[in-house]
Amino acid sequence: MCGIVGAIAQRNITPILIEGLRRLEYRGYDSAGVAVMNDDHSIQRVRAVGKVIELEKSLSETPALGHLGIAHTRWATHGKPAEHNAHPHISDGLAVVHNGIIENHAPLRKKLKELGYAFTSETDTEVVAHLLAYHYGQSKDLLEAFRQTLGEIHGAYALAVIHEDEPETLYCSRMGSPLVIGEGVEEHYIASDPLALLQVTDCFRYLEEGDYARVSREQCDIWNIKHEAVERPVKRYEHAAHSLDKGEYRHFMLKEIYEQPEAITQTLAGTLGDDHVLTALLGPEAETRLADIEHVHIVACGTSFHAGLVARYWIEAQVGITCQVEVASEYRYRTVVVPKNTLLITISQSGETADTLAALRFAKDQGYLATLALCNVAGSSLVREANWRLLTHAGPEIGVASTKAFTTQLVALLWLTTALIQARGGDKQQIITNINALKSLPGMVEQALQLDTRIAELAERFANKHHALFLGRGTHFPIAMEGALKLKEISYIHAEAYAAGELKHGPLALVDENMPVVSVAPSGSLLEKLKSNLEEVRARGGQLITFACERVEHAEEGTAQTITLPWVEDCISPILYTIPLQLLSYHVALVKGTDVDKPRNLAKSVTVE
Ligand code: AGP
Repeated sequence: MCGIVGAIAQRNITPILIEGLRRLEYRGYDSAGVAVMNDDHSIQRVRAVGKVIELEKSLSETPALGHLGIAHTRWATHGKPAEHNAHPHISDGLAVVHNGIIENHAPLRKKLKELGYAFTSETDTEVVAHLLAYHYGQSKDLLEAFRQTLGEIHGAYALAVIHEDEPETLYCSRMGSPLVIGEGVEEHYIASDPLALLQVTDCFRYLEEGDYARVSREQCDIWNIKHEAVERPVKRYEHAAHSLDKGEYRHFMLKEIYEQPEAITQTLAGTLGDDHVLTALLGPEAETRLADIEHVHIVACGTSFHAGLVARYWIEAQVGITCQVEVASEYRYRTVVVPKNTLLITISQSGETADTLAALRFAKDQGYLATLALCNVAGSSLVREANWRLLTHAGPEIGVASTKAFTTQLVALLWLTTALIQARGGDKQQIITNINALKSLPGMVEQALQLDTRIAELAERFANKHHALFLGRGTHFPIAMEGALKLKEISYIHAEAYAAGELKHGPLALVDENMPVVSVAPSGSLLEKLKSNLEEVRARGGQLITFACERVEHAEEGTAQTITLPWVEDCISPILYTIPLQLLSYHVALVKGTDVDKPRNLAKSVTVE
């Protein structure tokens, strides 16, 4: 999705802007641009379609030097990827960059056209530039004009503005899209993600919904949505800069797959006793109210939704309360029936996914006992707006395809399941089994990672494939869904997941000798049934690839291949079986030659609807 960087300093800020954009590249974008205030107080704008490197090439031909500037990477929503649609957009001496969507752009565009403004792009952002220029023309007061503009636009935005009449000031605001202000020594920076600025600072002020700010080199004035002056505390960013490097790895995705034992260890740190889980980390209110929860609703998107689907099996089977799981984009627009004492859990790696955030806001009026954000980013909007929070400690995830965020979400959800059993005075043996299994998990994941070379060989089979089926049963059905999502995301192979028992109700018609069928077949009560489903595939010549428990025998005939994993308790098995599927999609993507960390059309954090 789009990214924003801005800076005001005594030195030339263009290298800060470019490095910031480079650090935001992982989020996905199709064009980039900068606007820099030259020493003669004129704004110079340079834009380019494609990667940041293209912008750098343009800048080498037309250098832009200055002490104040804003920059942007654009992920097209209104108007195709093209230079004229790239940000910044300008109007009467001002430049604007914007993340999000201005929902009332059409009537505003009409009104501004009638006022004589000429549009050069199809974007919703250009409306903001002209509207601000219009109000400034009326009042000759930029802060006032900014306030009036914010009062007229509806939708989601993070905005940054510079104006030739105020060559020492940067204006910014957020509503629905994140924005931070970085603190330097007599310099300030802004960005849509702190990662963009770690080369210059690790101290940030996090703007809240509706906040707007006027930022100079020495000063930072912030107002809230009610126009009251507010202080937003400076917080130190906790992650080490090295977590943003690929290190010895070829791709961030591979690095992040290999970081999982450590990420799981960090997520569990301080949460487990020998025979009980330590619920104090949820906060005093949550701790005392866990026992009151009689129903759970889980809302999330994509991979995080898959984590929720696994948790449903755990919560219903182990805690004995109902659990409903739904994608946020549907949940937020329907009539929801919320039984008494229902906990709403939103799951998100980024904590900024627009649909999940909107679902949380929608849920606030639905009579839930409480809302809980399960998230990897402590300062995110989701975490700040939920009543309770449960953080994963996976560290920054840069690859668009979610890996360590998913497995740590599952770890946190199994921990939460165990906390619910404990709070309700449930099965003590199940609590101990879950705790011991979770403690053993980092070591088991290490073992699964050793399958890398074998899986790389297997991936060659996908070189000429355009379709694949993934099968699983029980808690491994969502894992099959996650495997299929990973494969389509980064290798562009059309992949579908089915609960294996559904095969004969339709998808079996697709199976022939050209169809790879990947099955997740650990031990467990449904294993014999799954084996029968796999026989149905084998009988039709499908190319079976089975990930199975070392203690279970699977027939290997013809093209069928079985890869075995160590035996683990049922409760952590879905987490373990995720690993080979991640490795498979990674190696297939290498075979296909796709852009593993930045797959086409996708963004890391989907901050628009
Ligand atoms: C995962 O590989 C995807 N990139 C995507 O489905 C992602 O999980 C989804 O957009 C939700 O993101 P979130 O966890 O940050 O809310």
